[in-house]
Amino acid sequence: MNPEVWSAVDQYINGLLVPSDPELDAALEASAAAGLPPIQVSPPQGKLLHLMARMLGSRNILEIGTLGGYSTIWLARAVSPGGRVVTLEADAKHAEVARDNFTRVGLANVIELRLGPALDSLPKIAAEGRGPFDFIFIDADKPTMAEYFEWALKLSRPGSVIIADNVIRKGGVIDASSTDANIQGVRRFNERLAAESRVCATEIQTVGSKGYDGFALAVVTGDPH
Ligand code: SAH
Ligand code: DHB
Ligand code: MG
Repeated sequence: MNPEVWSAVDQYINGLLVPSDPELDAALEASAAAGLPPIQVSPPQGKLLHLMARMLGSRNILEIGTLGGYSTIWLARAVSPGGRVVTLEADAKHAEVARDNFTRVGLANVIELRLGPALDSLPKIAAEGRGPFDFIFIDADKPTMAEYFEWALKLSRPGSVIIADNVIRKGGVIDASSTDANIQGVRRFNERLAAESRVCATEIQTVGSKGYDGFALAVVTGDPH
């Protein structure tokens, strides 16, 4: 087994179940043309997020880490009529590309992008009473994941689902002595997740066109407030 096989199988899955989509393709093309790093979720992962949000009947979604808005579009397509996605992005260029993408696909009225460091936006969102969110996707900078999880809990209700990307990191997550700040950030998040009695959680390892990584999945069971 090797990354070439994982990518070929992702293409096979895409050919069957995640067919090429002009709107998502255009968003990816615009992101690439603007020089954004190609680190968005893969098509099958984007559809997985879409399916999970849709299965839950999500109407109010929070995303931390927009990039060009690829995962945001998948999530926005999952919300029932009148639903909204709030997405947080620190980088002004990424935000501009994402906003153009949302307008192009006709989702600008569904998606609210907040520019600025997520740790600045999250307290404002809480103060505005914008929550609770039904579905929260954490996918920004990894050293701060544990803090994003704290905010996700504050902005949730029993039954809310919290998903976090990039928790396996090619298996690097089991290296307790790693000097990689991303791995240490994920490890701190994982320990925080494990210690949190108000959620029921697991992690799933994934392979595909994005290599070897994984998602954390949690459902809020208790009253987080
Ligand atoms: N969810 C996107 C990928 C996000 S990549 C997708 O799958 O399509 C991570 C993004 O988080 C980058 O755009 C980066 O600029 C942003 N980011 C990094 N640090 C951040 C912070 N402190 N607050 C908000 N966004 C941040
Ligand atoms: C990176 C960030 C991500 O969210 C991801 O899915 C892959 C890579 C990164 O910062 O390199
Ligand atoms: Mg990611």
